Amino acid sequence: MINKIFNNTNSIPAFLAPMAGFTDAPFRLLCTKLGCRMSVSEMISAKAMVYRDKKTATLAKIAEGEAPVSIQLFGHEADVMAEAACMVAESSFEGCDFAKPPVAIDINMGCPVKKIYSSGDGSALMRDPELCARLVEGAKKCGLPVTVKIRAGITAQTKNAVEVAKACTEAGASAVCVHGRTREQMYAPGVDLDIIAAVRDALPESIYVIGNGDVKDLKSAKRMVDYTGCNAVMIGREALGNPWAFAEIASNGENYYPPTTEDRIETAAALIRAVCSEKGEFAGVRESRGRAAHFIKGLRGAAEIRAAINQAESLQEIMDILKI
Ligand SMILES: Cc1cc2nc3c(=O)[nH]c(=O)nc-3n(C[C@H](O)[C@H](O)[C@H](O)COP(=O)(O)O)c2cc1C
Repeated sequence: MINKIFNNTNSIPAFLAPMAGFTDAPFRLLCTKLGCRMSVSEMISAKAMVYRDKKTATLAKIAEGEAPVSIQLFGHEADVMAEAACMVAESSFEGCDFAKPPVAIDINMGCPVKKIYSSGDGSALMRDPELCARLVEGAKKCGLPVTVKIRAGITAQTKNAVEVAKACTEAGASAVCVHGRTREQMYAPGVDLDIIAAVRDALPESIYVIGNGDVKDLKSAKRMVDYTGCNAVMIGREALGNPWAFAEIASNGENYYPPTTEDRIETAAALIRAVCSEKGEFAGVRESRGRAAHFIKGLRGAAEIRAAINQAESLQEIMDILKI
């Protein structure tokens, strides 16, 4: 399956990056419809999965019609990672709702957030490439392909993406996604393509390398692939308000028409409805505030619309504000 996803190359394979609070099943389905070829769930705590936490189960939902999805786990204990990965592979957790099985387990080795980092999870793992390898070995026990998502390193002085990527792939990871920034940089300034190229150069061809950072459109996707030699690109923040970036990349520049204002508003409204139907109106309305803001950014009156949506208490109020 992983081979098929990467090798069907009429256009650059563009994947949706995992983004906590955003890349749930309704959003991934929207991106699938626009040409996204694979996506990753929001990050899920391996420990919470093993403790059978109910909210965790809802994060791992996969909907009918989605492009292949991998489930991203975070944690720093190999035995816990193994158990959580097996629960995912066997769909053996309460509330498991997979319309189709996940295609891989992705291990989060890049999250820079203080709470995660100080627990030794996310990007903190890059301090210890041997531990990264043990986590991959643990997850591999579930029988699904294992992928890892790393950063350039922790600081400019300790850019060890190549070392970590080698350790993980020697331990059995099939693909490595490299976000070309250090933990210290968080999400700015611009992405370091050299580190992604260095990882690509250092690994055997049979291992897929996914380039991540600042891909916004066909031009930046081409630049990422041409410069680094990566096999696919992963889009994060741009997709939040412009999932049409997938359509542009899939079109390879032919017959691509950017979304109109109506398209953007109708798509935001449809997503908000889907989120409310999935999670209930109370949670859906609150979650939708941030999501709508991404879609209306740059439109005339965006600030007023955003302020009004932030005050809205019901789905109907949001639809009225969007005039849908
Ligand atoms: C709101 C938000 C949430 C994120 N959550 C995750 C996550 O759960 N797991 C992960 O590996 N990366 C996470 N990331 C990082 C993205 O997957 C991606 O690596 C990063 O945004 C760089 O890509 P971009 O420049 O295309 O946005 C998150 C990023 C953002 C902005």
